[in-house]
Amino acid sequence: MDKRAIGVFDSGLGGLSVVKEIRKILPNESIIYLGDTARIPYGTRSKETVTRFSLEDAKFLLKESVKCMVVACNTASALSFDSLVKIIKIPIFEVITPASKKAVTITKVKRVGVIGTRGTITSRAYEKKIKEEDRNVKVFSQACPLLVPLIEENEMSPKLLTVVIQKYLSGIKKKKLDTLILGCTHYPIIKNAISKFLGKDVALVNPGEEVAVALKDFLIKKGLDSPKNLHPVRKYYVTDLTDRFVCVSKMFLEDNLDGKITKVEIN
Ligand code: DGL
Repeated sequence: MDKRAIGVFDSGLGGLSVVKEIRKILPNESIIYLGDTARIPYGTRSKETVTRFSLEDAKFLLKESVKCMVVACNTASALSFDSLVKIIKIPIFEVITPASKKAVTITKVKRVGVIGTRGTITSRAYEKKIKEEDRNVKVFSQACPLLVPLIEENEMSPKLLTVVIQKYLSGIKKKKLDTLILGCTHYPIIKNAISKFLGKDVALVNPGEEVAVALKDFLIKKGLDSPKNLHPVRKYYVTDLTDRFVCVSKMFLEDNLDGKITKVEIN
Protein backbone atom coordinates (compact mmCIF):
# COMPACT_ATOMS: atom_id res chain seq x y z
CA MET A 1 0.00 0.00 0.00
CA ASP A 2 1.16 3.51 -0.81
CA LYS A 3 -0.57 6.58 0.56
CA ARG A 4 1.29 9.06 -1.63
CA ALA A 5 -0.84 11.03 -4.08
CA ILE A 6 -1.45 10.47 -7.78
CA GLY A 7 -0.19 13.43 -9.82
CA VAL A 8 -2.37 14.65 -12.68
CA PHE A 9 -1.51 17.42 -15.10
CA ASP A 10 -3.25 19.19 -17.94
CA SER A 11 -2.90 22.32 -20.02
CA GLY A 12 -5.63 23.94 -17.94
CA LEU A 13 -8.78 23.06 -16.05
CA GLY A 14 -10.22 20.57 -18.57
CA GLY A 15 -8.13 17.83 -16.97
CA LEU A 16 -10.46 18.08 -13.98
CA SER A 17 -12.85 15.99 -16.09
CA VAL A 18 -10.21 13.24 -15.78
CA VAL A 19 -9.80 13.89 -12.04
CA LYS A 20 -13.57 13.48 -11.74
CA GLU A 21 -13.29 9.95 -13.18
CA ILE A 22 -10.28 9.08 -11.01
CA ARG A 23 -12.10 10.28 -7.88
CA LYS A 24 -15.12 8.18 -8.84
CA ILE A 25 -13.24 4.96 -9.38
CA LEU A 26 -10.47 5.48 -6.81
CA PRO A 27 -12.19 7.36 -3.96
CA ASN A 28 -9.44 6.63 -1.43
CA GLU A 29 -6.62 8.07 -3.48
CA SER A 30 -5.03 11.43 -2.78
CA ILE A 31 -4.61 13.55 -5.91
CA ILE A 32 -2.37 16.48 -6.76
CA TYR A 33 -3.53 18.34 -9.86
CA LEU A 34 -1.62 20.86 -11.92
CA GLY A 35 -3.37 22.92 -14.60
CA ASP A 36 -1.04 25.00 -16.73
CA THR A 37 -3.63 27.74 -17.09
CA ALA A 38 -1.01 30.40 -17.85
CA ARG A 39 -0.11 28.62 -21.07
CA ILE A 40 -3.34 27.00 -22.24
CA PRO A 41 -4.08 26.03 -25.01
CA TYR A 42 -1.63 23.28 -25.84
CA GLY A 43 -3.82 22.11 -28.71
CA THR A 44 -2.65 24.83 -31.09
CA ARG A 45 1.07 24.58 -30.29
CA SER A 46 4.03 22.72 -31.79
CA LYS A 47 5.30 19.37 -30.53
CA GLU A 48 8.48 21.07 -29.20
CA THR A 49 6.56 23.61 -27.17
CA VAL A 50 4.01 21.13 -25.80
CA THR A 51 6.88 18.80 -24.84
CA ARG A 52 8.74 21.57 -23.04
CA PHE A 53 5.62 22.63 -21.14
CA SER A 54 4.68 19.02 -20.30
CA LEU A 55 8.15 18.29 -18.92
CA GLU A 56 7.90 21.33 -16.67
CA ASP A 57 4.45 20.23 -15.49
CA ALA A 58 5.69 16.71 -14.78
CA LYS A 59 8.77 17.93 -12.92
CA PHE A 60 6.60 20.11 -10.70
CA LEU A 61 4.50 17.06 -9.75
CA LEU A 62 7.63 15.00 -9.12
CA LYS A 63 8.70 17.57 -6.52
CA GLU A 64 5.36 16.92 -4.80
CA SER A 65 6.47 13.28 -4.36
CA VAL A 66 3.60 11.70 -6.25
CA LYS A 67 3.66 7.90 -6.63
CA CYS A 68 2.58 7.95 -10.27
CA MET A 69 1.40 10.44 -12.84
CA VAL A 70 -1.46 10.84 -15.30
CA VAL A 71 -1.17 13.06 -18.36
CA ALA A 72 -4.81 14.12 -18.51
CA CYS A 73 -4.31 16.34 -21.54
CA ASN A 74 -4.87 14.52 -24.83
CA THR A 75 -2.60 16.92 -26.70
CA ALA A 76 0.25 16.44 -24.22
CA SER A 77 -0.34 12.67 -24.30
CA ALA A 78 -0.18 12.71 -28.09
CA LEU A 79 2.81 15.02 -28.53
CA SER A 80 5.03 14.65 -25.51
CA PHE A 81 4.56 11.23 -23.94
CA ASP A 82 7.58 9.69 -25.72
CA SER A 83 9.82 12.33 -24.16
CA LEU A 84 8.12 12.19 -20.76
CA VAL A 85 8.64 8.45 -20.25
CA LYS A 86 12.36 8.82 -20.90
CA ILE A 87 12.75 11.41 -18.16
CA ILE A 88 10.06 10.75 -15.56
CA LYS A 89 11.17 7.72 -13.60
CA ILE A 90 7.87 6.90 -11.93
CA PRO A 91 4.89 5.13 -13.55
CA ILE A 92 3.23 7.53 -15.95
CA PHE A 93 -0.04 7.14 -17.86
CA GLU A 94 -1.37 8.83 -20.95
CA VAL A 95 -4.97 8.84 -22.15
CA ILE A 96 -4.51 7.67 -25.76
CA THR A 97 -3.73 3.99 -25.10
CA PRO A 98 -6.62 3.08 -22.77
CA ALA A 99 -9.15 4.98 -24.92
CA SER A 100 -7.90 3.33 -28.13
CA LYS A 101 -8.05 -0.12 -26.54
CA LYS A 102 -11.60 0.49 -25.39
CA ALA A 103 -12.68 1.72 -28.83
CA VAL A 104 -11.19 -1.34 -30.55
CA THR A 105 -12.98 -3.60 -28.07
CA ILE A 106 -16.40 -2.09 -28.58
CA THR A 107 -16.53 -1.34 -32.31
CA LYS A 108 -18.50 -4.00 -34.11
CA VAL A 109 -18.25 -2.50 -37.58
CA LYS A 110 -14.51 -1.74 -37.13
CA ARG A 111 -15.01 1.94 -37.86
CA VAL A 112 -13.91 4.37 -35.17
CA GLY A 113 -13.99 8.16 -35.13
CA VAL A 114 -11.64 10.42 -33.17
CA ILE A 115 -12.13 14.08 -32.39
CA GLY A 116 -9.59 16.28 -30.67
CA THR A 117 -7.52 19.44 -30.85
CA ARG A 118 -5.51 20.21 -33.96
CA GLY A 119 -2.34 19.02 -32.20
CA THR A 120 -3.85 15.69 -31.23
CA ILE A 121 -5.37 15.01 -34.62
CA THR A 122 -2.34 16.02 -36.72
CA SER A 123 -0.08 13.84 -34.54
CA ARG A 124 -2.21 10.83 -35.59
CA ALA A 125 -1.45 9.34 -32.17
CA TYR A 126 -4.92 7.83 -31.76
CA GLU A 127 -4.89 6.43 -35.28
CA LYS A 128 -1.50 4.77 -34.74
CA LYS A 129 -2.52 3.29 -31.40
CA ILE A 130 -5.82 1.94 -32.75
CA LYS A 131 -4.03 0.36 -35.74
CA GLU A 132 -1.51 -1.20 -33.34
CA GLU A 133 -4.40 -2.84 -31.51
CA ASP A 134 -6.22 -3.94 -34.66
CA ARG A 135 -5.00 -2.94 -38.10
CA ASN A 136 -8.38 -3.74 -39.64
CA VAL A 137 -10.11 -0.92 -37.80
CA LYS A 138 -10.69 2.14 -39.99
CA VAL A 139 -10.10 5.45 -38.23
CA PHE A 140 -11.76 8.75 -39.13
CA SER A 141 -10.29 11.79 -37.41
CA GLN A 142 -11.50 15.34 -37.12
CA ALA A 143 -9.95 18.34 -35.37
CA CYS A 144 -12.54 20.53 -33.64
CA PRO A 145 -10.61 23.68 -32.64
CA LEU A 146 -13.68 25.79 -31.81
CA LEU A 147 -15.01 23.40 -29.19
CA VAL A 148 -12.47 24.15 -26.41
CA PRO A 149 -13.07 27.94 -26.33
CA LEU A 150 -16.82 27.41 -26.68
CA ILE A 151 -16.92 25.07 -23.67
CA GLU A 152 -14.53 27.23 -21.60
CA GLU A 153 -16.76 30.23 -22.25
CA ASN A 154 -19.74 28.15 -21.17
CA GLU A 155 -21.35 29.02 -24.50
CA MET A 156 -23.37 25.90 -24.64
CA SER A 157 -26.74 27.06 -25.85
CA PRO A 158 -28.19 24.15 -27.84
CA LYS A 159 -28.47 26.32 -30.96
CA LEU A 160 -24.83 27.37 -31.03
CA LEU A 161 -23.55 23.93 -30.06
CA THR A 162 -25.59 22.29 -32.79
CA VAL A 163 -24.10 24.60 -35.44
CA VAL A 164 -20.54 23.85 -34.32
CA ILE A 165 -21.11 20.13 -33.85
CA GLN A 166 -22.70 19.98 -37.29
CA LYS A 167 -19.72 21.80 -38.80
CA TYR A 168 -17.24 19.32 -37.38
CA LEU A 169 -19.14 16.05 -37.20
CA SER A 170 -21.21 16.00 -40.39
CA GLY A 171 -18.35 14.40 -42.34
CA ILE A 172 -17.69 11.79 -39.64
CA LYS A 173 -21.39 11.00 -39.38
CA LYS A 174 -21.43 9.89 -43.02
CA LYS A 175 -18.67 7.34 -42.34
CA LYS A 176 -21.07 4.94 -40.63
CA LEU A 177 -18.91 4.44 -37.57
CA ASP A 178 -20.26 2.97 -34.35
CA THR A 179 -17.66 4.34 -31.93
CA LEU A 180 -16.29 7.84 -31.34
CA ILE A 181 -13.39 8.75 -29.06
CA LEU A 182 -13.86 12.08 -27.29
CA GLY A 183 -10.14 12.86 -27.61
CA CYS A 184 -10.00 16.07 -25.59
CA THR A 185 -10.47 16.80 -21.90
CA HIS A 186 -13.34 19.18 -22.68
CA TYR A 187 -15.59 17.03 -24.85
CA PRO A 188 -17.19 14.83 -22.16
CA ILE A 189 -18.98 18.01 -21.03
CA ILE A 190 -20.93 18.08 -24.30
CA LYS A 191 -21.30 14.33 -24.79
CA ASN A 192 -25.10 14.51 -24.77
CA ALA A 193 -25.14 17.03 -27.61
CA ILE A 194 -22.63 14.93 -29.59
CA SER A 195 -24.65 11.79 -28.96
CA LYS A 196 -27.84 13.52 -30.01
CA PHE A 197 -26.23 14.51 -33.30
CA LEU A 198 -24.62 11.13 -34.10
CA GLY A 199 -27.46 8.97 -32.80
CA LYS A 200 -27.60 6.42 -30.02
CA ASP A 201 -25.93 3.71 -32.11
CA VAL A 202 -22.60 5.50 -31.86
CA ALA A 203 -20.83 4.67 -28.57
CA LEU A 204 -18.77 7.47 -27.07
CA VAL A 205 -15.43 6.68 -25.41
CA ASN A 206 -14.24 9.02 -22.66
CA PRO A 207 -10.42 8.75 -22.31
CA GLY A 208 -10.65 10.06 -18.73
CA GLU A 209 -12.83 7.14 -17.72
CA GLU A 210 -10.56 4.64 -19.47
CA VAL A 211 -7.34 5.96 -17.94
CA ALA A 212 -8.96 5.84 -14.49
CA VAL A 213 -9.78 2.15 -15.00
CA ALA A 214 -6.22 1.42 -16.23
CA LEU A 215 -4.79 3.30 -13.26
CA LYS A 216 -6.91 1.37 -10.79
CA ASP A 217 -5.84 -1.97 -12.31
CA PHE A 218 -2.21 -0.92 -12.15
CA LEU A 219 -2.29 0.32 -8.55
CA ILE A 220 -4.00 -2.82 -7.32
CA LYS A 221 -1.75 -5.15 -9.29
CA LYS A 222 1.39 -3.43 -7.96
CA GLY A 223 0.07 -3.07 -4.42
CA LEU A 224 0.39 0.70 -4.73
CA ASP A 225 -3.19 1.61 -3.88
CA SER A 226 -3.89 3.81 -0.91
CA PRO A 227 -5.01 2.38 2.46
CA LYS A 228 -8.80 2.65 2.77
CA ASN A 229 -8.96 4.19 6.22
CA LEU A 230 -7.06 7.38 5.30
CA HIS A 231 -8.77 10.62 4.39
CA PRO A 232 -7.64 11.41 0.81
CA VAL A 233 -5.95 14.75 0.24
CA ARG A 234 -6.74 16.71 -2.93
CA LYS A 235 -4.63 19.64 -4.01
CA TYR A 236 -5.33 21.81 -7.04
CA TYR A 237 -2.54 23.94 -8.47
CA VAL A 238 -2.66 26.28 -11.45
CA THR A 239 -0.04 28.46 -13.11
CA ASP A 240 -2.43 31.39 -13.38
CA LEU A 241 -5.53 32.14 -11.36
CA THR A 242 -8.52 34.31 -12.21
CA ASP A 243 -11.97 34.65 -10.64
CA ARG A 244 -13.57 32.67 -13.46
CA PHE A 245 -11.67 29.49 -12.61
CA VAL A 246 -13.97 28.49 -9.80
CA CYS A 247 -16.94 28.39 -12.16
CA VAL A 248 -14.97 26.71 -14.96
CA SER A 249 -13.59 24.07 -12.60
CA LYS A 250 -17.09 23.35 -11.31
CA MET A 251 -18.15 22.55 -14.84
CA PHE A 252 -15.40 19.92 -15.26
CA LEU A 253 -15.23 18.49 -11.75
CA GLU A 254 -18.82 18.99 -10.61
CA ASP A 255 -17.40 20.13 -7.30
CA ASN A 256 -16.83 23.58 -5.84
CA LEU A 257 -13.14 24.47 -5.61
CA ASP A 258 -13.75 27.96 -4.19
CA GLY A 259 -10.69 28.81 -2.06
CA LYS A 260 -9.05 25.48 -2.87
CA ILE A 261 -7.06 26.43 -5.99
CA THR A 262 -3.48 27.60 -5.47
CA LYS A 263 -1.36 29.51 -7.94
CA VAL A 264 2.22 28.27 -8.37
CA GLU A 265 5.31 29.13 -10.41
CA ILE A 266 6.66 26.10 -12.21
CA ASN A 267 9.51 27.44 -14.33
N1 DGL B 1 -6.45 19.66 -22.55
C1 DGL B 1 -6.41 19.75 -23.99
C2 DGL B 1 -6.61 18.36 -24.61
O1 DGL B 1 -7.16 17.46 -23.99
C3 DGL B 1 -7.44 20.73 -24.53
C4 DGL B 1 -7.12 22.18 -24.24
C5 DGL B 1 -5.85 22.66 -24.91
O2 DGL B 1 -5.83 22.85 -26.14
O3 DGL B 1 -4.86 22.85 -24.21
O4 DGL B 1 -6.19 18.15 -25.72
